[in-house]
Amino acid sequence: MANFLKSVFVFFVVFYVVCAKHEAYDGHAFYEVTAKNEDQAKFVNGLENQIPIDIFVYANTDRAGQILVPKEQKMNFEASLESMGVEYRVQVENIREQLELEDKILAQSTSEPIDRSTFGVQALPYNQIHRYEVVDDYLVRLANAHPNLVTVESAGKSFEGRDVKYLKISTTNFEDRRKPVVFLMSLLHAREWVGLPSTLYAIDKLVLNVTENDLVNNIDWIILPIANPDGYEFSHTVNRFWRKNRRTGLTHGDSCVGVDLHRNFDIFWGSASSSDPCTETFHGRSAFSEPETQNIRRILDAYANRIELFIDFHSYGSMILFGFGNGQLPANALTLNLIGVNMAQAIDKIKWDMKPDYTVGNIYYTRYAMSGGSSDYAQGIGIPISFTYELPAMRGIAVGNFGYLVELAFIGQAGEEAWEGIKVGAKFISGLNK
Ligand SMILES: *[C@@H]1O[C@H](CO)[C@@H](O)[C@H](O)[C@H]1NC(C)=O
Ligand SMILES: [Zn+2]
Repeated sequence: MANFLKSVFVFFVVFYVVCAKHEAYDGHAFYEVTAKNEDQAKFVNGLENQIPIDIFVYANTDRAGQILVPKEQKMNFEASLESMGVEYRVQVENIREQLELEDKILAQSTSEPIDRSTFGVQALPYNQIHRYEVVDDYLVRLANAHPNLVTVESAGKSFEGRDVKYLKISTTNFEDRRKPVVFLMSLLHAREWVGLPSTLYAIDKLVLNVTENDLVNNIDWIILPIANPDGYEFSHTVNRFWRKNRRTGLTHGDSCVGVDLHRNFDIFWGSASSSDPCTETFHGRSAFSEPETQNIRRILDAYANRIELFIDFHSYGSMILFGFGNGQLPANALTLNLIGVNMAQAIDKIKWDMKPDYTVGNIYYTRYAMSGGSSDYAQGIGIPISFTYELPAMRGIAVGNFGYLVELAFIGQAGEEAWEGIKVGAKFISGLNK
């Protein structure tokens, strides 16, 4: 009897925690918004600076916008669209149900990890989404287990004091200055979880399960899996769609928190982003105001004359994007496009049939105007090949194309298809495919 009561109690506690977890999203609706012309698209995208909505996909004349709208803003939002004659459709009435489904699906993944025992260091299964501490510890273990190949470094701390670690992978201890450096990173945007397997799988293929020796021997690698650990943890524990870092002190009583790190780099800073801390694209008080972007700058600056390829993994949209976010093209735009297209073709060969082909292009012309992005900063300081890589949208669970929520079966695939792209880019810059 006592046991029975205990299990009832545990059941209710678990049930309560699960329920409370996504409470913030109760009644949030997901909209698909169709812009008939440029004016409508501008109007829709500009709403994010007026109403606290969250634009997942910006509207343009070729692509419907996808927008998350809080319960108390729905009427306001719909009225605004109607006043301009913009067509919209509610795709998900209550996003909270989707989030609870995702929890259930991810919980299953603990029961079926791929077998990694042959690799000795309790290698992380790359087909799972791992939390910050697990990854942080893994990087240290890998370096300890492979001292002749792997070094773990700290780039600095996050706002809340988490260590931001990265790996240096090199057969020559980074001392052979003729070798080009490739720099890969993920999770600058907290909620874009599917970026993590892309960097973890690259680590796998360079350290544990090496099948392309020339990539290991001829290139030095820098891999930073969790660029925004505070935001990432917050997206696990409290707010699944958290995008920014966790900077406080921006508004009275911290009613609005966080800086969009992908708008905080010192490149055309503030020209196409938001100055309102309550929006998702708040660029911070000044360029590089945030410890997380300073961490990345430190690495970029330290190796600027050797990094030949920089890829920042995001989601979603199936895109390989190059600079600049204001539509200005770098002098080597044709080369960027050529390498991007070669990467996309390689990826498309193994992509899932149900996902769209990858698109390659300039950020502004392919997507929207943005300033202060990581890959634009890298391009700006002279790193020749610099991309923001958008992994495919997840199909979600009950609805069609539902962006950030992770499809269990896709996690491993995300790593594998990103690797196809990385290989092509890396071979290109190291001259291995000439
Ligand atoms: C090692 O990599 C190869 C090629 O990418 C793959 O086919 C194989 O399954 C991997 N092995 C393990 C144990 O992960
Ligand atoms: Zn992103």
